Amino acid sequence: MARTASGPDPVGCGAGYTLCPGLTLRFPIVQAALGRCDGPALAAAVSRAGGLGCLTIHEADTTGLRARIQRIRHRTSRPVLAAFTAPFERSVVVDAAFAAGIRHFQVFWWNGPHLAPQIRSLGGTVFWQVGTVDQVQDAHHTGADVYIAPGRDAGGQVRTPHSIPELIATIRTVAGPEATIVAGGGLSTRADVAQVLAEGATAALLGTRFLLSEEARAPERDKARLLRADADDLALDLRIIGDWPCVPRRRLLTATGADRPSLFAGKGIDHMGRIPSAAQIVRELAPVSRPPLIR
Ligand SMILES: Cc1cc2nc3c(=O)[nH]c(=O)nc-3n(C[C@H](O)[C@H](O)[C@H](O)COP(=O)(O)O)c2cc1C
Repeated sequence: MARTASGPDPVGCGAGYTLCPGLTLRFPIVQAALGRCDGPALAAAVSRAGGLGCLTIHEADTTGLRARIQRIRHRTSRPVLAAFTAPFERSVVVDAAFAAGIRHFQVFWWNGPHLAPQIRSLGGTVFWQVGTVDQVQDAHHTGADVYIAPGRDAGGQVRTPHSIPELIATIRTVAGPEATIVAGGGLSTRADVAQVLAEGATAALLGTRFLLSEEARAPERDKARLLRADADDLALDLRIIGDWPCVPRRRLLTATGADRPSLFAGKGIDHMGRIPSAAQIVRELAPVSRPPLIR
């Protein structure tokens, strides 16, 4: 059993949900890329609890990146996903992430063609976010290992007009019945997770639920505002500003017009209830039918 600065890692990988070779989760829960609102503490806590945590990477500084990954390693030896959300990353950044122990990388249609060959040549796996049939075809032809499919009810950047079942059906049609799919957008409860698995996903993707966790890097006042909000308080902001590539963002409507990532939220906002630890969230979302193994 791996030992970390925070004690033994409680997750074994003998049973569970296999996303790709070398990555079996105890619970079918994947934390979505949250840009500046995720970070080592959140990614590590989700992975340590048996899901898959995610660290957004958009930096040129490999020293800072190594330090952030090291902060994850102090907390868990379990895998985390690194999401490249910028236009593209320099190859030294990919090399640095790999050298620091990251093996699973999320890309998009704009940077996947550039990054996927390097990730593969290093021996890493490619999680490819898709929202349209063209993007699914590109991902399939380039050899995606896992498809990330946030539907139109997602929080933050909304990059598809399609519902979760429509996206899953498109991926199955293009990539075949064996394709591994992580789907979400608007999920917040165990019933939501069960539903998305019943629709054919291997695991569920959740962003807003993990934004409202103790570990997420958002101001506590913004978390509290979102906790009080419901889906009617959200709007799909069509203004094209400050993002790559520029797309609509679902966020909280505020009296002052405040527009910051820590106020992004998906339609599942109605059922958040409170701001627990990420580990509690993973436990509360996990299917009850497969009791976890601990070793
Ligand atoms: C606070 C927040 C920040 C986000 N930041 C990004 C980002 O920087 N890049 C990106 O591609 N998606 C971003 N997203 C979208 C998520 O990756 C994911 O698609 C979405 O959270 C899933 O829907 P849900 O929030 O309803 O679970 C963000 C979402 C939230 C809630």
